[in-house]
Amino acid sequence: MAKAPTSRVDKLLSSMGYGSRSEMARLAKAGGITLDGADVSDVSQRITVTPDLPGRMQIDGQALDPLVGMVILLNKPLGMTCSHKEAGPLVYDLLPARWRRRDPGLSTIGRLDKETSGLLLLTDDGDLLHRVISPKRHVTKTYRATLARPLAGTEGALFASGQVMLDGEDKPLAPSALEVITSTQALLSVTEGRYHQVRRMFAAAGNHVEQLHRERLGGLSLPDDLGPGQWRLLREDEVALIFA
Ligand code: URA
Repeated sequence: MAKAPTSRVDKLLSSMGYGSRSEMARLAKAGGITLDGADVSDVSQRITVTPDLPGRMQIDGQALDPLVGMVILLNKPLGMTCSHKEAGPLVYDLLPARWRRRDPGLSTIGRLDKETSGLLLLTDDGDLLHRVISPKRHVTKTYRATLARPLAGTEGALFASGQVMLDGEDKPLAPSALEVITSTQALLSVTEGRYHQVRRMFAAAGNHVEQLHRERLGGLSLPDDLGPGQWRLLREDEVALIFA
C-alpha cells in the first residue's frame, strides 16, 4: 500500500484555504489548532496526512475540512454560473468561503447553463473530473426538459437516430434516449456534453426548452431531500455510481 504523505501543518492548512502560513502560526499560538485533543503549537511540525485526519484535527474548535479528493453534490439553483470569474452569482458562492482558496482548487465537473438547475458535481480531483467528462466513458446525463409546445411524437426516433446535426456543427450527435412524461415534458439522456446541447436538440426538433433540470449523472441521481442551493459531500460508493 502507498505510504500516506506527510506535510507541515502550516503548509497543509494554508493549502486548504485556512489562511497564510503566518496566520496559521498565530492561530496555533492562540490554541486554535489541535490534533488528537492536544494543542499543536509548532506549525512547522510534519504530520502524516491520513484520511482520518479531519476527525482528529480541529481548527478553531471545528473539524478539519475534507482533504484533497472531495466530491461535492450540489443541487444547482437557477441564475448561478458555473465559472470562477464571471460577474454575478457563481455556484462557488454556495460553498464555504475558504474553499475558494484551496489548492488544488475546486472545479465543476462539466457545466450547466446559468438557467439550468439540478445535479452538479464539484471536485478537486482532476483525474475524476476527466474520467467523468471524457467522451470515451459515455457517462449518461439525464435532463428533465419542459417545453414551450407539445411534443410532435417524432422526437424520440429523431434523437435516437444518431443523425441530428446541430446548427453550426459538422458532426452528428450520438444517439440519445427520450422518455416522454407529458405532452410538454420529457426526460432526455445524452452521453455527450456539447454547448447548450439539450436546448439546441429541441430547437432542431422545432420546439423550445422553457425549463431544464439535470436529474441524473450515470447511475447517480439527485436526491429529493437536497433542495436548490443545497450541497453535500459524496461518499466513495456514491462516486462509483457515476460509472455504474
Ligand atoms: N444542455 C443544455 O442545453 N444546457 C445545459 O445546461 C446542459 C445541457
